[in-house]
Amino acid sequence: MATERTLSILKPDATRRNLTGKINAKFEAAGLRIVAQKRLQLSVAQAEAFYGVHRERGFFRDLVTFMVSGPVVVQVLEGEGAVAANREIMGATNPANAAPGTVRAEFAESIEANSVHGSDSAENAAVEIAFFFAGIEIVG
Ligand code: CMP
Repeated sequence: MATERTLSILKPDATRRNLTGKINAKFEAAGLRIVAQKRLQLSVAQAEAFYGVHRERGFFRDLVTFMVSGPVVVQVLEGEGAVAANREIMGATNPANAAPGTVRAEFAESIEANSVHGSDSAENAAVEIAFFFAGIEIVG
C-alpha cells in the first residue's frame, strides 16, 4: 500500500482534558508520522466551512458549537495507507461502538465529543489538508 497523508483533528474535549500527547502516542505507536501540527481556536465560520458536507444534518449546529468550544489541534498524519490506518486507530464515530484500545473507546465522551476527526477518503484528505495547511508547513 502506498504512503498517504490524512487530516486529523484533536477536538476540544481532548484538548480540554490535556490528552494531546496520549492521542499522539497512539498515532506514533501505530507507525503514523505527524508531519504537520498546529493548535487553533476555530471560528464559527471556519467550523461551518470545514463541516459543510454535514450542513443539512440535524446535529450540524451542535457540532459547530462544540468545535468552537475550545482549542483544537489540527495535524497531518503520514504513513502506509494513512487514511484507513487512522480510522482504525480512532475507532467508530460513536464511542459506544468503538473497538477496545481505539482512541474513541478510551477517551471519547459521546458521539459529538468524540476526541478526534480523521479524513474518510484520500480525496477528502487532500481537501481537508489544504483547508488547514500550506504545503510549506508539511514536512515529511
Ligand atoms: P467527525 O468524524 O468529526 O465527523 C462529523 C462529526 O459529527 C462526527 O465526527 C461526530 O463527532 C459528530 N456527530 C454528532 N452527532 C452525530 C451523529 N448523530 N452521527 C454522526 N456524527 C455525529
